[in-house]
Amino acid sequence: MSIARAGAVQGWNSRTTFVLALSASAVGLGNLWRFSYLAGEYGGAPFVVTYIVCLFLVAVPLMVAEVVVGSHGRGGPVAALRWASDRSLLSRGWTAIGWLACLTGVLILSYYVVVAGWALAYARYMQAGVFSAASAAVVGEQFSALLAEPLRQVYWQSLFLLLAAGFVLFGVRRGLGLLVWLAVPVLITMLAVLVKFSFDNGDMVAAREFLFSVKWIDFSPRAVLVALGHALFTLGVGVGAGISYGAYAPGRIPIGRSVMAVAVFDTMIALLAGLAIFPLVFANNMAPAMGPGLLFVSVPYAFGNVAQGELFGAVFFLLVVVAALGSAVAMLEPVVRTLMQQLRWRRVTAVLLVTGLVWLLSLGVVLSLRTAESTAWLANSNLFSFFDAVTAQFLLPLVALSTAVFVGWRLRPEILRVELYRESALFFSLWRALLRYIAPAAIMLIMLANLVTPG
Ligand code: PHE
Repeated sequence: MSIARAGAVQGWNSRTTFVLALSASAVGLGNLWRFSYLAGEYGGAPFVVTYIVCLFLVAVPLMVAEVVVGSHGRGGPVAALRWASDRSLLSRGWTAIGWLACLTGVLILSYYVVVAGWALAYARYMQAGVFSAASAAVVGEQFSALLAEPLRQVYWQSLFLLLAAGFVLFGVRRGLGLLVWLAVPVLITMLAVLVKFSFDNGDMVAAREFLFSVKWIDFSPRAVLVALGHALFTLGVGVGAGISYGAYAPGRIPIGRSVMAVAVFDTMIALLAGLAIFPLVFANNMAPAMGPGLLFVSVPYAFGNVAQGELFGAVFFLLVVVAALGSAVAMLEPVVRTLMQQLRWRRVTAVLLVTGLVWLLSLGVVLSLRTAESTAWLANSNLFSFFDAVTAQFLLPLVALSTAVFVGWRLRPEILRVELYRESALFFSLWRALLRYIAPAAIMLIMLANLVTPG
């Protein structure tokens, strides 16, 4: 009996919990600070359509592949891959994908928790009225001041990491199950309230124009690559979350339809986030931005300058925290599970070690932000953008590509068919074709393009 079976996981009883868990992993910072900005910047409607095509033709098949491996192997990434390799009489070298996925998760987390920490800090600032009627310059200075104070950032990011670790510590059934049943409804409610607030106080017409009008001129070949990269990131492919959660799913669920539901939900949240943010940004005559500039300068300024903005601004930043929490847990759990299974550690030990490692790395990120000038040896970038670039441009695509090759080309099709028996024959053939041909080609294109023109 393999380790995967020996340490057999006690899974969730309901399919809904599985779908909610994958949704909580998918919805994260990417939805809030990247998607809507990219849509506006890269051509509006044509970009949104391309993103949806990439999501369903590349990202969804890959996520289905991860879940299939998980539900077949019933373990963390490494154990599940070993079980799958053994069953198809393949080399155990394929388990390297599992380790690589864990590494990717840890590296993404090390900058993800920094941003989540900022969001926690901003929820507090908002509630305390720090940005009330502040000028754009003052809001910008506030953010620079936070970046220059590592201790304050460390305080907030440690708080966030503790929260995430707490949920992972309580295990999959209690911790994770509870988190997702709470997080997803809370997320939807907060977003609905914010969109309404934005409708009432913002410039909806300008936002609609920015996000959805057809601007062919901005729709370049680069836009297609950006859409593809974002589709992979936003669904949370490549860190083994699909494998881990697939292992906890109740047996014989319709995997294909479940993952598609997650993709639809994730896109809806991203679109709604755009409708919550940009009307306020435009009503205050701010230029649209992305990343830190959008979330921590434009947004607080916009909320600070409308009636009742403090309250709604605080709600907004709590929304960011809750969204990031689901993603952080999805990156922690596969690593924790892997250490438990491979080294036979107890959950507490594994959680402590992984959290400690992420904490140390994130400390490095924070310190490098302050001393950004002195890190010329890192090609003029700080650790934040370094981890971001290495994971998004290299590690995530690499894990995705190897998963596509492993599941699409190497695993025995009969095994896959059994896992996907709830889906039609047509779905199965289509999925396999996408995984064998379209996904690898698309990912290789991203990797090549990044090699030629990084950034
Ligand atoms: N999907 C998350 C987001 O959009 C990020 C993430 C990546 C989560 C990889 C899990 C795994 O922010």
